Amino acid sequence: MSDYIPNPEDRFTFGLWTVGWQARDPFGDATRPPLDPVESVHRLAELGAYGVSFHDDDLLAVEHDRDRAVERFRKALAETGMKVPMATTNLFTHPVFKDGAFTSNDRDIRRHALRKVIRNLDLAAELGAATYVCWGGREGAESGAAKDVRAALDRYKEAMDLLTSYVIDRGYDIRFAIEPKPNEPRGDILLPTIGHALAFINELEHPERVGLNPEVGHEEMSGLNFAHGVAQALWHGKLFHIDLNGQHGPRYDQDLVFGHGDVIGSFFLVDLLENGGYDGPRHFDYKPPRTEDAEDVWVSATANMRTYLILKEKAKAYRADPEVAEALAASRVAELAEPTLAPGETPADLARDDFDLEEAAARGFHFSRLNQLALEHLLGVRG
Ligand code: GCO
Ligand code: MN
Ligand code: MN
Repeated sequence: MSDYIPNPEDRFTFGLWTVGWQARDPFGDATRPPLDPVESVHRLAELGAYGVSFHDDDLLAVEHDRDRAVERFRKALAETGMKVPMATTNLFTHPVFKDGAFTSNDRDIRRHALRKVIRNLDLAAELGAATYVCWGGREGAESGAAKDVRAALDRYKEAMDLLTSYVIDRGYDIRFAIEPKPNEPRGDILLPTIGHALAFINELEHPERVGLNPEVGHEEMSGLNFAHGVAQALWHGKLFHIDLNGQHGPRYDQDLVFGHGDVIGSFFLVDLLENGGYDGPRHFDYKPPRTEDAEDVWVSATANMRTYLILKEKAKAYRADPEVAEALAASRVAELAEPTLAPGETPADLARDDFDLEEAAARGFHFSRLNQLALEHLLGVRG
C-alpha cells in the first residue's frame, strides 16, 4: 500500500480560486482572509501538485496592479516549477455581467466580455496553457420573458467562433473547453449539461478547437450520472479537461472535496479516467468549506489528491482481482464491444437467427455480484 503522497507526475492541478475562496456565500460574509496567489502556488507545490489554473481576476487578490500581479505570479511559477495547464476568464463577478457576458442582452457588454477574454488569452498563451475554459455562469435567465434563447445561442456561437479564430490567427496552441452547469448563479444557465454543450460544439466554425470541461457536481445537480457523461465526452473525443469535486445529488452547487459526495460514483470515474484514454490534468475545482480556517484549507486541498490516489489504487486492485474478471465475464460486459452484426452480414441474416426468446429472456446478468465486488474493494475488505 502506498502512502498516497501526491507528486507532480500525478498531474494534480488546482484553480487559484479554490484554495483562495474566502467563503463568502449569499447569506454570510467571508470567513477567511484573502490568500496571496504566490502563497497558493508555493503551498500547492509543497503538497505535490503539478500546477495551477486561474481566472484573470484571481491574480489580483492581494496586488491590484495587473502588471505587478502577473510578475509576482510568474516568479512564483519559476521558483516552484509549477505549470499552468489551464486558464479562464471571470465573466461573472462584476455587476456588469449581471445579465451574462457573451449573451448579455446589452451589446456593449458583450463586446467588453470578448475584450476581457482576449486579454487573458494572450497571458494564457504566454504561460503555456493548453486549455482555455469557458464557464458561462451568468449566461442565462430567471424568467421566460428575459431571454431569446435562440438569439443567445447565435451570440454564444459568435463569441466562440471569434475566439477560436483569434487563437488560430495568433498561432496559439490553445483549445477551448466549455463547462456546462444547469443553474446557479442564474436560475437557468445556457448549455446546462454535457449533452447540450456537445450538440452546440457541432454548430461552431472550428469544432475541433472546442471541447468540454465537465464538472462532477454540475452534472449531479441535474441528477445525471457523471461517469456516463464523461464516457460520452471521451467517445466524442471532447474530454479536453475536467473539474473534479463532490456533490450530494440535486441541490445547490456544493463544490465539495473530491470523493466527499458520491463515493462509488467517484470510484467508477477514476477507473474511467485511468483506463479510458484521458491524459489531461486531474484538476480540482472545489471549495474548502466555509467552516474551515486558513490552515484547514491545505488539509482539504490534500484530501482531494489523496482521495484520487486511493481510488486509483482501488480501481487497479479491482481490475486485477480474478474474481472480478470472472464476474465481468459472467455479466458479459466485454460482449458489448462485439459488433452486433458480423462483417458482411445484412438485415436478412438477422431473420435467419435461431433465437430462443424465452431462454434469452430468462438469462440473468449478475450485476449485483459485480457491483458488490466494486463496493467491497472500495470499502477495503478485498485486495
Ligand atoms: C462552479 C464553476 C466555477 C468554474 C470556474 C471557471 O463551481 O460553478 O465550477 O468554479 O469552474 O469559475 O470559470
Ligand atoms: Mn461547481
Ligand atoms: Mn468548475
